[in-house]
Amino acid sequence: MKYLAPSILSADFTNMAQQIRYVEMGGADIIHCDIMDGIFVPNISFGASVVTAVRKVTKLPIDVHLMIKSPDRFVKDFINAGANYISVHAEEVVHLDRVLNLIKENGAYAGIAINPSTGISYIESILETLDFVLVMSVNPGFGGQKFIKYTANKINELNKIRSLKNLNYKIEVDGGIDKSNIKEVSNYGCDIFVAGSAIFHSGNITATTLELKNIIKG
Ligand code: DX5
Ligand code: ZN
Repeated sequence: MKYLAPSILSADFTNMAQQIRYVEMGGADIIHCDIMDGIFVPNISFGASVVTAVRKVTKLPIDVHLMIKSPDRFVKDFINAGANYISVHAEEVVHLDRVLNLIKENGAYAGIAINPSTGISYIESILETLDFVLVMSVNPGFGGQKFIKYTANKINELNKIRSLKNLNYKIEVDGGIDKSNIKEVSNYGCDIFVAGSAIFHSGNITATTLELKNIIKG
């Protein structure tokens, strides 16, 4: 099963409920929320109160991508706000095992996000405990950047390790995904596809969502 996860970072914030309705009409599976603090990444987005608002207008699972310093401080807040998936960055969290347990104990799926330059080997020993791995295919911080090609090798590698070791984690890709590259990334074994600007800046949100969904459905 392949899932499309529109990132509301590129949505029109003055019409959030409508924008979410548009992606739902196109068959979106998950709503991706990018949380940025201006320290871990050079941009500030929004916090748990926006996730609470999103929760009120959709029944879709909410995927919260924490690009913030010491994300453990806010895990419960985001789960209370309605997050179903939470990812924290390997580059930021020293005690990854502890934070992942915190996420799971509070009832959400737990994932680790890795920057383009972070290798799989750093998280290999913990893969068996993960619900998902988020492979950043741009440097985190902004929507609308270009897909970094070498990151696809890590998706391929994660897919191979998963079958070799008979593990269950999902592989999520985030950054620069559009109709020109989503098929190739899917072929590498990716399961969850985040797309922000390709959907919300397309001129027809519902049609583009549908188009991307149809490509990954194969
Ligand atoms: C980047 C974010 C992404 C971003 C993707 O730091 O993690 O989720 O919204 O946007 P696009 O699809 O425009 O690259
Ligand atoms: Zn993201």
